[in-house]
Amino acid sequence: MKIVEQIKQPIDYEMELFEEKFRISMSSKVALLNRITHYIVNRKGKQMRPMFIFLVSKMLNNGEVSERTYRGASVIELIHTASLVHDDVVDDSNRRRGFFSVNALWKNKIAVLIGDFLLSKGMLVCIDNNDFDLLKIISVAVRELAEGELLQIEKARKLDITEAVYYEIIRKKTASLIASCCSMAAASVKPNSQDVDTMRKFGELIGMAFQIKDDLFDYGEEKIGKPTGIDIKEQKMTLPLIHVLNTVPKIEKDWLINSIKNHNKDRKRVKEVIAFVKKNNGLTYAETKMKQYQSEALSILKKYPESEYRNSLELMVNYVIDRKK
Ligand code: IPE
Ligand code: IPE
Ligand code: MG
Ligand code: MG
Repeated sequence: MKIVEQIKQPIDYEMELFEEKFRISMSSKVALLNRITHYIVNRKGKQMRPMFIFLVSKMLNNGEVSERTYRGASVIELIHTASLVHDDVVDDSNRRRGFFSVNALWKNKIAVLIGDFLLSKGMLVCIDNNDFDLLKIISVAVRELAEGELLQIEKARKLDITEAVYYEIIRKKTASLIASCCSMAAASVKPNSQDVDTMRKFGELIGMAFQIKDDLFDYGEEKIGKPTGIDIKEQKMTLPLIHVLNTVPKIEKDWLINSIKNHNKDRKRVKEVIAFVKKNNGLTYAETKMKQYQSEALSILKKYPESEYRNSLELMVNYVIDRKK
């Protein structure tokens, strides 16, 4: 059995029901909107966030989820989808999930509004059902996501990012949503319990590892359904490069900065930078950090009693760093 099927086995029923609810949660009376949201749902992603939600809820609540858990999963996936639609505008990226991105097909104007629509639909899932505790958890992530993206742009302009700021950026733009996801899962079945905080931490650690993995993909040539090698083009400095900048002699550091500042659209030069980062152990360093986050996340799980849900969550944590896309 494939690893993802194995992970999903204890939540097969919930994931199937979720897909239907998720589809419905996107609907609109405006034909153009419906056409685009159909396009989006038909190219579904890995759905890792809903998987985390159902596995965490079932682990904490003797295998039971509630209607609130389903709503939590819909909100998270709606907001995640909105963030991808907006992110492809921000990153000027034309591919997503192996197909054209929304901005590539319908242009930026429409992509911005589609993102807003999905975001509002997410918020309304909570509001319409008086899940204000869940709304509070998710709203923090929405704020941090925007802050993280803006901090990243600020640093890309000044080219003065440090390792600490890199962690702050990825904590905000990616880990915060996965943290909210696990925390919401706990809150959906055990409101006001210690687990709400513990699971937030767990999700944050996974999110950190998840984004480092995503940044490592950008240095590879694997087919992952979205462009690779675009970070340097966008003057986005991620952990492998930051580490190398911190360890090489000044003359090489100056060459790197100059390449990113003035030759970032020169494909040959970008390739040289990538090769330089690899040769100077940038990728191995980032992998080590990623594994540290992974093992911290696993140690939180170990505090919970063994169950099929905990086992799946362990596999899921490992999948975050072993995945091929
Ligand atoms: C992509 O997230 C955005 C990041 C936070 C790196 P996913 O890799 O979970 O995207 P999909 O939903 O599977 O396409
Ligand atoms: C991931 O941003 C976080 C968000 C979507 C806000 P990236 O720009 O690193 O993600 P990909 O690689 O395009 O999915
Ligand atoms: Mg981005
Ligand atoms: Mg992007």
